[in-house]
Amino acid sequence: MSYAIIGFGNIGQALAKAFARNGIEVSVATTREPERFKADAAAIGPEIAPKTLTEAIKADIVFLAVRFEAIQDVAKALPSWQGKTVVDVTNAHGVPPEELSGQPSSKFVAWAFSGARLVKGFNHLAASVLAQDPAVKVAGEWCSCLVTVTPPGRRSVHLRRTSASRR
Ligand SMILES: NC(=O)c1ccc[n+]([C@@H]2O[C@H](COP(=O)([O-])OP(=O)(O)OC[C@H]3O[C@@H](n4cnc5c(N)ncnc54)[C@H](OP(=O)(O)O)[C@@H]3O)[C@@H](O)[C@H]2O)c1
Repeated sequence: MSYAIIGFGNIGQALAKAFARNGIEVSVATTREPERFKADAAAIGPEIAPKTLTEAIKADIVFLAVRFEAIQDVAKALPSWQGKTVVDVTNAHGVPPEELSGQPSSKFVAWAFSGARLVKGFNHLAASVLAQDPAVKVAGEWCSCLVTVTPPGRRSVHLRRTSASRR
């Protein structure tokens, strides 16, 4: 299982620290070339691998840690997200409801990342709290499938189906 964090700002770095604390390798990508943030990644730990967006999204599980306005740009980086799991850490701060077509923001993200198994998680925690290794368990539902994610702070990040999928 491979992991990536898209976005290496407040929340992306807090997630990266959780991976590093637990010795789990993770790719990170921003709008910048990897060379431009490799020092910040190295300061967190050798587990953090700066990559381009194109390289990072080859991971099986992709943590989405960008501002809501950037969601479409990240989603467009792949023609299909089929087979991937996207953990959506975003919040739609200041986004008018009409821009979401009146839908909950998580539905909007699910639509943008068409084909992905979407899990909403960690968005309810401030980066400073997440950086302190809290115990968090999150669940997401897509089609008829419920999954649980054991977060980075619990050594293994994995998804477990707790009900049968229709897909
Ligand atoms: N801050 C918190 O405590 C917190 C808590 C819970 C949830 N959240 C949510 O987490 C998300 C990120 O918040 P933040 O505070 O971490 O924001 P931030 O500090 O501004 O970081 C955003 C990151 O996203 C990257 N980015 C932007 N567009 C991108 C693209 N097209 N491709 C790849 N990377 C891109 C930026 O790249 P550059 O570095 O190159 O600019 C930056 O590293 C938001 O949706 C926010 O609501 C934040």
